[in-house]
Amino acid sequence: MKHYNFDEIIERRDTDCVKYDLLETIFGNGGALPLWVADTDFRVPDFIMDALHLRMNHEILAYSYRPESYLEAIINWMDRKHGWKIEKEMITSSPGVVSAVTMLIMALSEPGDKVIVQPPVYFPFFTSIKGSGRKMSENPLMLKDGRYTFDFENLKQIIDPQTKLLILCSPHNPGGMVWKREELEELSRICTENGIVIVSDEIHADLVFSGNKHIPIPMVSEEIAMNSAVLMAASKTFNVAGLSTAFVIIPNKKLRVKYERVLHTVHIEGGNIFGNIATEAALKNGFDWVSQLMAYLENNYNFLETFLTTRMPKVKIMKPEATFLVWLDFSAYNLTEIQLGKILINGGVALNNGTKFGTGGDGYFRLNFGCPRAILEEGLVKMEKAFDQIV
Ligand SMILES: Cc1ncc(COP(=O)(O)O)c(C=O)c1O
Repeated sequence: MKHYNFDEIIERRDTDCVKYDLLETIFGNGGALPLWVADTDFRVPDFIMDALHLRMNHEILAYSYRPESYLEAIINWMDRKHGWKIEKEMITSSPGVVSAVTMLIMALSEPGDKVIVQPPVYFPFFTSIKGSGRKMSENPLMLKDGRYTFDFENLKQIIDPQTKLLILCSPHNPGGMVWKREELEELSRICTENGIVIVSDEIHADLVFSGNKHIPIPMVSEEIAMNSAVLMAASKTFNVAGLSTAFVIIPNKKLRVKYERVLHTVHIEGGNIFGNIATEAALKNGFDWVSQLMAYLENNYNFLETFLTTRMPKVKIMKPEATFLVWLDFSAYNLTEIQLGKILINGGVALNNGTKFGTGGDGYFRLNFGCPRAILEEGLVKMEKAFDQIV
């Protein structure tokens, strides 16, 4: 098996990348170490770059479609990675996971209907709901034994006849939870009983740490399989988010037809030629690479945990079961989010502030450890120094 070097530091400045090149605009400190936006600093694997280079050599990049081999790559990946057997008819497309969330909201509800979110959660969901003229209904996550879980009692209370959809983030960003079968079963039961479709953002599905198992929502029961849509992409795992390509799996034909009507209306079903090629190459060849990536990320997390527990014990860590993101609770410092944010950025490290993720996010910051260990260590040392000065 080929060995990949995740310690390699690749200069990303001056590539028009959000993570580094927008630091000055967004944080007012262009020289800060970026442990914020959710992409990684790892090189795109050779099997993806080779496939892209090969296609680039043919110097016509006109309209293209997704071939059978693309669909086969998704079908095989779902089976091998998640034990989920899907048919090619179930697969449809989107330029992104968030755009698919928005299109599903438009396809499966009417203006004024209610859509449930479970904050703190990936914040673009809020814009998808409000921007499309729907009402956002909140079922905040509950903290139990140091991890988030669903509040089923509150969920039952807030559901009414206008409630049409629930957006699930699985695995969870920012908390890193891999939802357990019992959690998903109860959530699915409540939703199907009330005619609520689950829109399941599973973009982080391939980034699961040892000892945890991601369950695509349609695998939970026959009923929820007919009442859900799964959104996935190679973008997070293989660091190809700039190619703007995702895929959507909807087992129920009726729901799929409604979704595809919106896709067709917006006229974006063709997609991005390089995104399609990268996705196919990733899912055909990426199995061993992802195993190595996850081993590296797990070591990064362990390094972070040791560092923070010994050197910044006031920071409470929510141990992630998946993703390269960690949700850190700074509330023991008894400072406002603005004060905490200033300390961090003046100390030279950029993290995402918690309130952006909605209810329950105050006092938290999200840190991205999807980077070479040396960068992570530098960031943590900067954080320690920044807080040393105020205590
Ligand atoms: C949970 C989650 N969903 C969706 C996205 C973005 O997906 P896309 O760029 O395909 O819209 C992200 C990126 O951070 C994410 O963490």
